[in-house]
Amino acid sequence: MKILITGGAGFIGSNFTGLMLKKYPKYKITVFDALTYASNPDTIIEFKKYPNFSFIKGDIRDIAAVDKAVSGKDAVVHFAAESHVDRSILDPGIFVDTNVRGTMNMLEAAKNHSIKKFIHISTDEVYGSVKKGKSVETDMLEPTSPYAASKTSSDLIALAYFKTFNLPVIVTRSSNNFGPYQHPEKFIPLFITNAIEGKDLPLYGDGKQVRNWIYVEDNCAAIETVFRKGKPGEVYNVGGNVEEPNILVAGTIIKQLKKPASIMKFVKDRLAHDRRYALSSAKIKKLGWKPKYTFTEALKLTINWYVINKNWWSALKGKAFKDYFKKAYK
Ligand code: NAD
Ligand code: TYD
Repeated sequence: MKILITGGAGFIGSNFTGLMLKKYPKYKITVFDALTYASNPDTIIEFKKYPNFSFIKGDIRDIAAVDKAVSGKDAVVHFAAESHVDRSILDPGIFVDTNVRGTMNMLEAAKNHSIKKFIHISTDEVYGSVKKGKSVETDMLEPTSPYAASKTSSDLIALAYFKTFNLPVIVTRSSNNFGPYQHPEKFIPLFITNAIEGKDLPLYGDGKQVRNWIYVEDNCAAIETVFRKGKPGEVYNVGGNVEEPNILVAGTIIKQLKKPASIMKFVKDRLAHDRRYALSSAKIKKLGWKPKYTFTEALKLTINWYVINKNWWSALKGKAFKDYFKKAYK
């Protein structure tokens, strides 16, 4: 089996690639990634020790490069995307180009090369803010941010390729991931690394927004389960087992790192900030998957990882990062 993983140098994609390389030494695994600011080129260097691994530096917006990479593969797992809500508010255009057009390029190449399995990685943000209960796969899609709207478009285009062309597409919609190798612009790693550096933790609005956190290893196990057992044309929600307001997550980080509560600072809210995400994972649980980690133990592991791997994240918090933050807080 020859598998192409797009976005395999990013947070979830690199964790998933690591899992697949270890679990399936006989599969040939190729990562296709443009190595944007969000990528971890170091993980690609680590993967090179596996004889079944190869890497292509390429952009999913480039049809010819995509077509060449997909040719000769049996399956595609498509993670590559612009992934940060705050950046999509500053600059929506690249989100449409990469997430919508880029995904269409992937689907078109998959159709032309008769790919036998196409896993499209979507998100719980397609459902929009959830007042009560939990989102199920058949719920209406009501995305809020340009990021979520671009992911909704790509999710629906992927399903259209199943319905129209019978391309064996399966969609996973996971909740907020956290764990090793997540870029420090995202909430949990930003707060952990800022606390380590003795900087303030900028909590948006009243800090009572709720996210359904999942440890990245659990999400990768879910995607691997769907890869083996998922049914073409189906959508699978992948949610963690906790719903936690941001202010409580921030409090736990501060406590574990033995920092004063005064570093938590309330700042201006994000535009159209979704109040709550909550997923029902009943459907994927029928395939035999369930999360292995509690939120408490996974957060502890994650904090320890960032404490030990300061070299990795401090390199990502340089000038470009500071310039982005200045713009984001204007
Ligand atoms: P990430 O930003 O950490 O990584 C994205 C990767 O895609 C990077 O390696 C980047 O270089 C690559 N990439 C970006 N644009 C590209 C392009 N034009 N061509 C080729 N490669 C490109 O993202 P992540 O957090 O690992 O998310 C991966 C996927 O999972 C995304 O599709 C995202 O929407 C989805 N998702 C993420 C979360 C989360 O909590 N992080 C939750 C649900 C779904
Ligand atoms: P984020 O990691 O950006 O994920 P998403 O917006 O896709 O859910 O943010 C998670 C939550 O944390 C979200 O409610 C916004 C909030 N947040 C802050 O309060 N401060 C911050 O500096 C960031 C980046 C996020």
